[in-house]
Amino acid sequence: MKIPVIMGSPRKGNTYRAAQRVEDVMRSLGDVEFEYLMLSDIGLEPCRGCFACFEWGEERCPVRDDAPAVGEKMHDADGVIFASPVYGLAATALMKNFIDRFSYTFHRPRFFDKKALLLATAGAVGEKDVLDYLEDVAGI
Ligand SMILES: Cc1cc2nc3c(=O)[nH]c(=O)nc-3n(C[C@H](O)[C@H](O)[C@H](O)COP(=O)(O)O)c2cc1C
Repeated sequence: MKIPVIMGSPRKGNTYRAAQRVEDVMRSLGDVEFEYLMLSDIGLEPCRGCFACFEWGEERCPVRDDAPAVGEKMHDADGVIFASPVYGLAATALMKNFIDRFSYTFHRPRFFDKKALLLATAGAVGEKDVLDYLEDVAGI
């Protein structure tokens, strides 16, 4: 079972370790293959707001970066883990940028057969808001 982890933390810290705990548990239950996609290492430029992906398809996006490769990994996956620490009471900018870049899937949903697991870490407050947000996004 292939499971990419979309990692919204810029470091291999609490959120990364929490995802590793999930990996340990899932490994004890069956054959799983985790791949950690560190958004800080992956080149995803900000959305330019041109609507090309909404109107004509993501292949028409004028930004040339790693988005197609990330999309392919999600397409090939059995499930995806979306993981973000709370930054300023919200998901990190890295995670938000990732969501913006894949917002075309809100208009043309495609990941019907995928499972999503949502993970948030926080110092004190905000994890429910982040998890609610990620649930909204992943549920579409
Ligand atoms: C810039 C920044 C903003 C943060 N904002 C919040 C916050 O609003 N609420 C909170 O509870 N923790 C906040 N934290 C703490 C992190 O959410 C917490 O330490 C998290 O576990 C860090 O995850 P990481 O080790 O994977 O980077 C913030 C941390 C940073 C660096």
